Amino acid sequence: MKKITRIGTPLSPSATKVMLLGSGELGKEVIISLQRLGVEVIAVDRYPNAPGHQVAHRSHVINMADGSALEALIEKEKPDLIVPEIEAIATETLVAMEAAGKVTVIPTARATWLTMNREGIRRLAGETLGLATSPYRFANNIDELKAACAVIGFPCVVKPVMSSSGKGQSKLDSAADIEAAWAHAAAGSRVDAGRVIVEGFIDFDYEITLLTVRALEADGSIKTHFCEPIGHVQVQGDYVESWQPCAMDSEALMRARDIAKKVTDNLGGLGLFGVELFVKNEMVWFSEVSPRPHDTGMVTMASQVQSEFELHAKAILGLPVNVALNSPAASAVIYGKHDAKAIAFEGVADALREPGIDIRLFGKPESFARRRMGVALATGNDVESARIRAKQAAAKVKPVISN
Ligand SMILES: Nc1ncnc2c1ncn2[C@@H]1O[C@H](COP(=O)(O)OP(=O)(O)OP(=O)(O)O)[C@@H](O)[C@H]1O
Ligand SMILES: [Mg+2]
Repeated sequence: MKKITRIGTPLSPSATKVMLLGSGELGKEVIISLQRLGVEVIAVDRYPNAPGHQVAHRSHVINMADGSALEALIEKEKPDLIVPEIEAIATETLVAMEAAGKVTVIPTARATWLTMNREGIRRLAGETLGLATSPYRFANNIDELKAACAVIGFPCVVKPVMSSSGKGQSKLDSAADIEAAWAHAAAGSRVDAGRVIVEGFIDFDYEITLLTVRALEADGSIKTHFCEPIGHVQVQGDYVESWQPCAMDSEALMRARDIAKKVTDNLGGLGLFGVELFVKNEMVWFSEVSPRPHDTGMVTMASQVQSEFELHAKAILGLPVNVALNSPAASAVIYGKHDAKAIAFEGVADALREPGIDIRLFGKPESFARRRMGVALATGNDVESARIRAKQAAAKVKPVISN
């Protein structure tokens, strides 16, 4: 692992160079934080003019799942650190390059490899670390899926092992739903239709993201810091609103931190992780973890002294972090509402007229009806009022077709 001990001058031989693999809205904010610290940033995505491309020193468009294309670009740019922002990359290439001492991957190449596949992280959490998870089985075809559902029972959830943002995911109430769930998983899988996980449905009271930061101390040791828990609402596996702090039973909070500590200790490295947990009374189940900033954590741009993006940027550079809460706050997603390129947004001024409101527009070149194009942020005296205000602000921003 390469330790950054000084920060150079961008675009000069002394530059400290960071390459983002994936340059969406989360990557864009990480890049802005790195830019503020004088880091030279190279943004990579699969399409031109991605949000992060627009704020980086240089940008590249490649298929990041293509190991040789990825390796060639890394050899050419020779970044000090590689920061994956998405799951769909050739992580075996990163593992091999890191093992050869050629790259430092954030947090570690192994963490990006394990978490890109639900099987890797689930077996680590459930079997190696012995953490509470939903019961689960894996299946490679419809007959195996029927057998797996018979063991797990109903209701259950079927997901492709390689997918994110709820793609290809279904809730099954009875055996009658199995065929449709298999077809849906095949259509929504990132790589191929090979394999699904069947999870027992957890009837949780609420779910949280526990942002967990591994950062260096003055003596060179790594300390684990926990942000206040973030509550969120998911619709069809995609986040629509989040808030911080999420009130929790004190026993449940202790268990949540214990789970997050065990998982992130195992994944290792420096940086911020989004640990997704289900909570019912004092019970906590591990769901999954992102070894990088989390979409529900966008609320921290309003709620924390240092946003999750600034925390990630600082932690990976070996700098101290501050996870303190500033104010209760909430975020609400602004969707594209249209399938069109180069849309425009009206009503931004109207939304911002209200005190304590902020808006981020990601600058994505193409909109889809359900594509996340921006987010409204609101502070409040409490999270209830912040949630209402964030949703009101998001509703004021109107995506329109521009010509
Ligand atoms: N076993 C389960 N029991 C109950 N609800 C579940 C279960 N698995 C998933 N969900 C619900 O679906 C949401 C999305 O699931 P999950 O996080 O596994 O999918 P994802 O595609 O990785 O989503 P994202 O990339 O947005 O995190 C969860 O946040 C939760 O609301
Ligand atoms: Mg998730």
